[in-house]
Amino acid sequence: MKYQKIRGTADILPNEGEKWSLIENKLKEILMHYYYQEARLPIFEQFELFARGVGETSDIVSKEMYDFYDKGERHLALRPEGTAGMVRAYVENKLYGPEHHKPQKYFYIGPMFRFERPQNGRMRQFHQLGVEVFGSKNAAVDAEVMTLAYVMCQSLGLKDLKLYINSLGSNEDRIQYRQALIDFLTPHFAELSKDSQERLHKNPLRVLDSKDPQDQKIVAAAPNILDYLSEESAQHFGQVQEILQALNIPYEIVPSMVRGLDYYNDTIFELVTTCDILGAGSTICGGGRYDQLVEEVGGPETPAFGFAMGLERLMILLDEADDYFANLHKLDAYVITIGQAVNAEAAKVTKALRDSGWKVEREFIGRKPGSQFKSADKLNASYVFTMGENELETGIVNMKHLETGHEVPVKLEDIYNFKLNLN
Ligand code: HAM
Repeated sequence: MKYQKIRGTADILPNEGEKWSLIENKLKEILMHYYYQEARLPIFEQFELFARGVGETSDIVSKEMYDFYDKGERHLALRPEGTAGMVRAYVENKLYGPEHHKPQKYFYIGPMFRFERPQNGRMRQFHQLGVEVFGSKNAAVDAEVMTLAYVMCQSLGLKDLKLYINSLGSNEDRIQYRQALIDFLTPHFAELSKDSQERLHKNPLRVLDSKDPQDQKIVAAAPNILDYLSEESAQHFGQVQEILQALNIPYEIVPSMVRGLDYYNDTIFELVTTCDILGAGSTICGGGRYDQLVEEVGGPETPAFGFAMGLERLMILLDEADDYFANLHKLDAYVITIGQAVNAEAAKVTKALRDSGWKVEREFIGRKPGSQFKSADKLNASYVFTMGENELETGIVNMKHLETGHEVPVKLEDIYNFKLNLN
């Protein structure tokens, strides 16, 4: 029997794992500065939470959920996204209580599951870093969360970024717009793609972001959602833009952008890369406002705003950026051992160097000195310490700078007392 990983999943192997940690730690640092707190939530939840929360007409629920019955006949699903679970936890744990600072600003990192057709940057198990803010309708929250997403990508050195924004207005605005769109599209029904024909009455807004070229031609002349915004929603969207401008965050308004989840109202956004490595899946990050979801899940009226960032997509882009991970595995020192007698002393030297903050590896498998030097070179060590019986006797070890070839004798005592001078 030969076992293979499930299609659409990936092994993040050692070496890759450190890259993930590096990125996650960098992003967590930024999240701290913005005062976001971390949550770690279950990977599976009741099926109904997603069906109702994300929306029964969305592709994610209708086609892509990994749902199953457990041994107690409970209908469960692997989470396809993090927002519904975060809202469930918010309501269940009464995080809206008076003892919590408002608005509550949370983030999470973890695997999500969608039964999609796997391709570059599109997986069946993938990872999101998500952010959710509960308890404020202030346009400054919309702007802060979008800025945060933008700054995160920028801090990783990503270029060719575009921030696309749009407003879906209030529920009432959308009901009116939905009807206007159905009225516009109905005469074109026969020309629409099969998917769009199906969506026309179930979820007509989704026709707007169809990838089918014929659909796109028709949709180009469709009514503009921004013309259907109520005074309040238009004002809110105006304020969001004002703040983005004040913060010098460049953005583009894309009135045809609707997003694939049903819970949004007012501001929505996507952060997209214009470089073509990711092909169709060029959206790194998507999100928006969802002011009704907390109530739908059984909590008090609570406006909310959030986004999620696809970490696989981020990693693909960073792997492309040549030297982003160049120094990740660079060692400060490699300890070469000659003969079994130095085994314990080499362990002491290695530990003392590590304790003083150096990144150090040593020889374990007793190879010839030449092979050990080659390893040190391959592991990009700055220095090599050579430990042989002579060094044991004299208490002095040779420290060689690999790049310059410069060598200095160092007292073992000095290493143990952390008196080693790197320069
Ligand atoms: P989403 O647009 O469905 O939004 O996903 C957000 C991001 O997750 C995408 O932009 C993409 O980078 C990544 N992603 C989605 N599906 C896959 C996949 N199959 N493989 C790899 N990456 C993928 C949400 O999930 C919302 N919960 C975002 C949100 C939070 N809205 C408000 N709060």
